[in-house]
Amino acid sequence: MKKVLVATDKPFAKVASDQIKAILAKANYSCVFLEKYTQQTDFINAVEDVDAIIIRSDKVDKDVIANGKQLKIVVRAGAGYDNVDLTAATEKGVVVMNTPGQNSNAVAELVFGMVVYQLRNHFDGSSGTELKDKNIGIHAYGNVGKNVARIAKGFGMNVYAFDPFVPKEVIEKDGVTVVGSVEELYKTCQFVSLHIPATAETKKSINYALLSNMPVNAVLINTARKEVIHEEDLLKLFAERKDFCYVADVQPDCVGELAEYAKRFFFSPKKMGAQTEEANINAGIAAANQIIAFFENNDIRFKVN
Ligand code: 3PG
Repeated sequence: MKKVLVATDKPFAKVASDQIKAILAKANYSCVFLEKYTQQTDFINAVEDVDAIIIRSDKVDKDVIANGKQLKIVVRAGAGYDNVDLTAATEKGVVVMNTPGQNSNAVAELVFGMVVYQLRNHFDGSSGTELKDKNIGIHAYGNVGKNVARIAKGFGMNVYAFDPFVPKEVIEKDGVTVVGSVEELYKTCQFVSLHIPATAETKKSINYALLSNMPVNAVLINTARKEVIHEEDLLKLFAERKDFCYVADVQPDCVGELAEYAKRFFFSPKKMGAQTEEANINAGIAAANQIIAFFENNDIRFKVN
């Protein structure tokens, strides 16, 4: 009997965990949960006798891989897999997958939840501003970016995007204006929503040169990863421009320094983008099914290493 560990420091909704359990049980797989753990060693110890792991932002480092004596597959129930040591996994022949698109609507909805909260002055009773007729730039047009575009149009916004990896026609089909460079996106849009992954190329790439060119009353929205922001540059900009705002679903390292700009900045301490019942169900079920398909049919469609 195959054994699957669901290691989620930030647990799935119960309704999702129940469905994951049921799907695995139907395939005659056993399933154990490690939730809200406080030590990485708890995770390392829990992988010893499992064949597969389902994770979220949980850190699959080389020690997790090494201690997984019979580990064959890790599925990140979500999009970004920068939390998995792909080199260590590949060296040990462990397949790594993600579940692209399954939580993207949840993340896109939170973009607007955060932005409206910011524009209404954190609901302090004073007059705020609106999104209608304003420009929003979507930086990377993947599954989340596409959903952001759809919702932005509902708000009556002018939607722009930049993504060198997606054909122009594909983006334009959604009624989105494609700009020719990342510089142009930031220069054109009062609101920029980040959807780039954290890679060696993108780390610290959102820098002073880009941000300082944003129009007046600029709002940068980050539901992606903290690592893509050049935080020293961000602080420099906050000190220089009294109109610049930053809202983040990912806690910046410079959170202490940003405290003095409380009205122009907030973050959600628990990374709430994908934390809905629907997204948990979608991503969790996809992960369970991908594990079964891998073992039963050698299906490696969602492999990322
Ligand atoms: C993702 O990469 O899918 C999102 O950042 C969600 O991450 P989470 O599952 O840890 O909430």
